Amino acid sequence: MSIKVRTAIFPVAGMGTRFLPATKATPKELLPVIDTPLIQYAIDEARDAGIERMIFVSHPEKAAIERHVMDNAALRADLAAKGKRALADGLKEACLCPKADDVVFTMQDAPKGLGHAVLCARDHVLPGPVAVLLPDDLILGRGCIGEMVESYAAAGAGHMVATMDVARGDTKSYGILDVAQRDGNLLRARGMVEKPDPADAPSRSAVVGRYVLDPAIFDALATQTAGAGGEIQLTDAIARGVADVGLAGFRFSGTRFDCGSKAGMLRATLHLAMQDPELADVVSDHLRAAAMDQAA
Ligand code: UTP
Repeated sequence: MSIKVRTAIFPVAGMGTRFLPATKATPKELLPVIDTPLIQYAIDEARDAGIERMIFVSHPEKAAIERHVMDNAALRADLAAKGKRALADGLKEACLCPKADDVVFTMQDAPKGLGHAVLCARDHVLPGPVAVLLPDDLILGRGCIGEMVESYAAAGAGHMVATMDVARGDTKSYGILDVAQRDGNLLRARGMVEKPDPADAPSRSAVVGRYVLDPAIFDALATQTAGAGGEIQLTDAIARGVADVGLAGFRFSGTRFDCGSKAGMLRATLHLAMQDPELADVVSDHLRAAAMDQAA
């Protein structure tokens, strides 16, 4: 049996304060890892997972996201006229087109939290469970949301969250699953605790930014009171639904980078650079020169 996940929600309305001043004029979701903006990796992942409708929950100040996501035929024509057809074709392949693709942009007027952002998409979702992708969690390797969609029916739980093991000392930076049973890549969970101290953490299974959620999430979010940081938290609404719809963690196979932080962004950049022969040489040369400087 399979359950179709037709909608993906991309919450992109946050302020990106950890990347100021870069995010004063440029949305965090458009910061590039090498030459590709974070949002593009997430769109490609959703497309590979067979998602039909993509809903971007953005902010009026972040119109550049829509400009990146949607086709720019005039730019492509200019490039083609200048003989840069390969570049033009690359842009066409990556972008979404109003006629060919099912795309919705909706606004979250104030950053009231991730849960509130997801709620803003409610009127636009197709029937059935919804995928949520946080673009600042970059997951390379096999598409994480595709793996989750494939395993969703087998999980037998309405809410499924991507999970990975973290060091015990790091539990205070994540939502942590209270795991009842482990079954291969699936973790059946009793609940989830937000950012517990290592001593109180029920496991080391941390939740990262990919979700497949039962539509009941929208009623839960509509009545969700503000939690940590005074924001409507998605994790609080998921945790409240555990008794009714169930919760499973999914251990994805790819490598995740927290590109909402400078360290994670640097790691992702180095990781991809090392896979490109020309850029790998640049990194090696730089490290060699730095080691010589240090030794001198
Ligand atoms: P983050 O908490 O990582 O993003 O949210 P942020 O708040 O923009 O970042 P900092 O902490 O100030 O640096 C994860 C995702 O959820 C979106 C963000 O845009 C990001 O893609 N988000 C967050 C919203 O859409 N609305 C919100 O109210 C909060």
